[in-house]
Amino acid sequence: MAVSFSKITDVFGAEVDGVDIAAGVGETAMRDIVDLFNEYSILVFHDQKINDEQQIRFSRLFSEIGHFGGLEKTVVQNASGGTEIADLSNVEPNTKVIIPPTDKRMVFNSGNEMWHTDSSFKRVPATASLLSGREVPPTGGETEFATERAAYAALSVAMRERIGPLVAIHDFAYNRSLIDPNLMTEEQKRETPPVPQAVVRSNPANGCKNFYAGAHASHIRGMPLEEGRALLGELTTIATQPQYTLRHTWRANDLVIWDNRCCLHRGRPWDKARHRRVMYRTTVAGVGPTAE
Ligand code: OGA
Ligand code: MN
Repeated sequence: MAVSFSKITDVFGAEVDGVDIAAGVGETAMRDIVDLFNEYSILVFHDQKINDEQQIRFSRLFSEIGHFGGLEKTVVQNASGGTEIADLSNVEPNTKVIIPPTDKRMVFNSGNEMWHTDSSFKRVPATASLLSGREVPPTGGETEFATERAAYAALSVAMRERIGPLVAIHDFAYNRSLIDPNLMTEEQKRETPPVPQAVVRSNPANGCKNFYAGAHASHIRGMPLEEGRALLGELTTIATQPQYTLRHTWRANDLVIWDNRCCLHRGRPWDKARHRRVMYRTTVAGVGPTAE
């Protein structure tokens, strides 16, 4: 079966066909997938009924063929999940009972509803996330994406020159404090100290440039805090205009891969007390820090 695709919008996103992740994907097909990823940033695969092991195997090969980093490790929430898969569901891992929306885990995960890019608060941020929708709500709970590549291409020369040399400080504790200043313990805050990230990045595979902002970005190094924060907010506002965004409405067994290097994403709310949304994510790390 050959890999084929169709574009989702004029500027990014592709729906990919001819792939059966559960059956196992070969190296040639994976090379095509990596090429599509570097070009279109968001890849949607329908009808991929997969388990954790199949998702991890696919993610590892994707990382290997793409010359990306290894799989990020996450805190284990369930015995069958292993450490390379993150459980983003609103159900208890073992009983599958809906977790009350007021539960601290759900409040914590509601941070995903702000425009962000995964693991930008880590020294080596994530290259790709692979999200498998195992059970999806009948309405709401979509995931939206924004391309900071097309948005960068449309910036004025003056703006590009202004942001080119800048370094942003990304800080997970700052981000979660926007939900509730007491959400994270002092110990948790110490585990994710602020890190520097380049404000402008380029994809080594094709040289395409983009800016890199999002809700974990607290301020700009060497700039007054409020001024830097306003600039980062402006970049996020620019990238999230309708012409640079797409909305993915989940069907059960969709797998979506997104490029965290050049896209923002956010989850949309749904009726969390009523509807189950069972999602598992693998995360492919980057190859190194983006700034000193
Ligand atoms: C994520 C995330 C949003 C969603 O998995 O990193 O932000 O729609 N998810 O679940
Ligand atoms: Mn995310």
